[in-house]
Amino acid sequence: MTNATSIPVLALDGPSGSGKGTIARAVADRLGWHMLDSGAIYRAVGHAAGVRDVDLSDAETMARLAAETRIEFLDPGDGGDARVFVDGVDATDAIRTETAGAAASAIAALPAVRKALLDKQLAFRKSPGLVADGRDMGTVVFPDAPFKVFLTASPAERAERRYKQLKAKGLDVTLTSLLHEIEVRDARDASRAVAPLRPAGDAVVIDTTGQPIPAVVAQVLAVVRKARS
Ligand code: DC
Repeated sequence: MTNATSIPVLALDGPSGSGKGTIARAVADRLGWHMLDSGAIYRAVGHAAGVRDVDLSDAETMARLAAETRIEFLDPGDGGDARVFVDGVDATDAIRTETAGAAASAIAALPAVRKALLDKQLAFRKSPGLVADGRDMGTVVFPDAPFKVFLTASPAERAERRYKQLKAKGLDVTLTSLLHEIEVRDARDASRAVAPLRPAGDAVVIDTTGQPIPAVVAQVLAVVRKARS
């Protein structure tokens, strides 16, 4: 049997809007590795809490829900994003709503929930390798990952990316309010007591501000190649 810890992991962490999701998918495709979207796991639990009308601040019940909720990722087979099933129901679109995002952010601050979700995340470590996208992949979930990258981008650029995404969905938003939200969320994520958002000591930090996606993908792949050679 393969020892899970011998399976390579690329931990790709960073704040929202740093381009993590897009870069993680592209790098996983290039390497032919599995992919863990850990944010989707927090969102799925936030969504499950909404469906069951659980109080998000009830840490004990939330931790139980986090452990019991069945979360499955299904490859659509057409090169598109994985579909996410929560307790057997397709929740791909539901977990991307602002409501599910806010619920995810609230429960992500509960240590018991983070602990309950640890095994679910570790189970993604499968041969030939894993690209793990999140906030604490390199610091808490896969501290032994041989490859660690922390992506950043200026708050102004992250707000601009989010603005374009939301506008494309037809939502009525302003750049100023998005920038404010990002600054507030950054401060909260970086200062929370459990698993605060920060680069692992051994992570390579890449600033994606002003950089096209292929250029960032190339830099991340270079980190993997360099660490392997
Ligand atoms: O990356 P995202 O926006 O889908 O993440 C949703 C929320 O989950 C976000 O508020 C941060 C939290 N999260 C976390 O605390 N740890 C992770 N590894 C991934 C996400």
